[in-house]
Amino acid sequence: MNRRTLLGATAFAVLGWAGLATAQDLPPLEQKDSYTVGFAQSESNNPWRIAETKSFQDTAAQCGWNLIVTDAGGSAAKQVADVDSMIAQGIDVLFLPPREESPLIPAVMRAKAAGIPVFLVDRSVDPNVAQAGRDYVAFLGSDFVDQGRRVAEYVIQNFQGEEGKIIELEGTTGSSPANDRKRGFDEAIAADSKFQILESRSGDFARDEGRRVMETLLQAHPDVNIVYAHNDEMAIGAIQALEAAGRKPGEDVMVVSIDGTRDALQAIIDGKMAVTVESSPFFGPLSCETMKRYAAGEAIEPWVKVEDRIFTAENAQESIAGAY
Ligand code: AHR
Repeated sequence: MNRRTLLGATAFAVLGWAGLATAQDLPPLEQKDSYTVGFAQSESNNPWRIAETKSFQDTAAQCGWNLIVTDAGGSAAKQVADVDSMIAQGIDVLFLPPREESPLIPAVMRAKAAGIPVFLVDRSVDPNVAQAGRDYVAFLGSDFVDQGRRVAEYVIQNFQGEEGKIIELEGTTGSSPANDRKRGFDEAIAADSKFQILESRSGDFARDEGRRVMETLLQAHPDVNIVYAHNDEMAIGAIQALEAAGRKPGEDVMVVSIDGTRDALQAIIDGKMAVTVESSPFFGPLSCETMKRYAAGEAIEPWVKVEDRIFTAENAQESIAGAY
């Protein structure tokens, strides 16, 4: 009996039948003082990703983590290779924000086969192929569909014009936040015939790409009066493009977004942006707590949900001190 199988037998004895539904197929985790933990970051090209990595690094000492951090530089293939390398190094636990929904699934499966419990953080994988409680322990993160829906509800309630003509800047193609934020927003906005999505195109969650895409779309759709960006970085890029074209974001174009970064809160204070629905990057403490519950033999809920605030002109000033 190898170490993992032996631990599995022990975990079964501890969990009993109550935890069986969740834990039967998953590698168990021994309770001990320190763990070698892998955090395979997808990229570090925006404040959100940097804050997320820092949250793991800040949590490491107090959670007993010997933390290995990698940066895939925006490549799903590199992120897969990073996970494989962590498996080879013998990590005890993997925390993974999969850049896209499908390409990371084989890496998740290999980690499980190597006896390593996997927690997906912030982004998820295609649920038709891999599932929490079976292929990985749990998904820790926000409700991205709800985030998109809340932005749409804000627009419906607050847009003053006769007709809302929307440009949508999507996140990374194939990523769970891009898929879900689009679905949530598009479905909710379709309920009001006053609004029309002129065009929807990916800006890859990046400021420069958001700016470039907005410059192009502005030429095709000069009548735009609402920009919905799937994250704050693209919203800031869009504001730059609008201003360069002589438009007045906040006056003749309503800009709405998701995340809650410092730059977005400042743009709200400056009157250039209307709203950003929070998407917290501070996953370190929640990951520590969930891992410890799992090691203690608790059945972990498939989705450990993060509740998000909303930032508008009413609370941006008081919230900016805690922003990143
Ligand atoms: O997965 C969360 C998204 O990824 C954040 O909204 C974005 O800023 C980041 O790159």
